[in-house]
Amino acid sequence: MSVLGIDEITFAASDLQRCRRFLGDWGLSLVSESDHVLVHQTLNGCKVVVADPSQVDLPPGIEADPTVREVVWGVETTADLERIGKAMRGQPGHVQTSDRVGCTDPNGVAVRVQVSRKKEVQPICAKTNTWTERQRIDAPSPAYDRAQPIDVGHVVFFVTNLQAVSDFYEQVLGFVVSDRYPGRGHFLRCAPRGGHHDLFLLQPPQARQGLNHVAFTVRDVHEVFGGGMHMSRCGWNTELGPGRHPISSAIFWYFHSPMGALWEYYTDEDELTEAWHAREFTPGPTVFAEWAIAGGIDGVTRRQHQAQAPGQAFMTDKPKP
Ligand SMILES: [Fe+2]
Repeated sequence: MSVLGIDEITFAASDLQRCRRFLGDWGLSLVSESDHVLVHQTLNGCKVVVADPSQVDLPPGIEADPTVREVVWGVETTADLERIGKAMRGQPGHVQTSDRVGCTDPNGVAVRVQVSRKKEVQPICAKTNTWTERQRIDAPSPAYDRAQPIDVGHVVFFVTNLQAVSDFYEQVLGFVVSDRYPGRGHFLRCAPRGGHHDLFLLQPPQARQGLNHVAFTVRDVHEVFGGGMHMSRCGWNTELGPGRHPISSAIFWYFHSPMGALWEYYTDEDELTEAWHAREFTPGPTVFAEWAIAGGIDGVTRRQHQAQAPGQAFMTDKPKP
């Protein structure tokens, strides 16, 4: 069996009180807290750990804090764990404990694997009505006062050696490339069957190592909107969103996070199988967002904060005639 997904993710940040407020507003539930470590979880039990940088057992970061320090991937059985443990032997930073194996990926990120501690959940999600399929009968579509993320769905890193990092995840953890920006970015999923990406590796022209964003899966588009407007009412700042990615088809909303980089609510990504053929794209604003609201929707007025196009043509890259 393949890796199932992200089981736990650890950040280092010094302002734990501000992080605690953000995590609660984001919709995660508090599992435990001390003066130096906060542990929260999503609905399915995916853990989000935030530790003060002084904690000695934290793996090193790949950029200045606040940022991610460790990603723990879940597998189904101890046999899976042993198989991946063998593949990790000889890798830099190799570690093995009674319940985890790990190493450092070629981008410097501490990677760990454990038998998944997440649980199956079956939240009620909105059904949609199209011309040909009427799935919602005698039932209004929901509206959410705030989000309750189901899972940590993917993580995105800036890398300096895209091919080496991609090779590591494909060869050691069995990941599969879903789509590519050749030489610039790889979208990877844990297994041939699954959501469009669990990991995205991005090598910008000014290559650097770092965290770009962490993404939380919510039930449906209405929860992206409801969650984002709640974050707005709580005073947190949008980077971009809501909007829609043409690659993966997901509806997104990105916020600036006190744990570093961006946090994303998303839903409705493409589901892929062995029959999928990886596509290739040229980076640009139209492939990043089919549409997006700059500055977000104000949670009180429920109207856009601002409407500002990026520096280059947004809806089309074609020059005007
Ligand atoms: Fe994302």
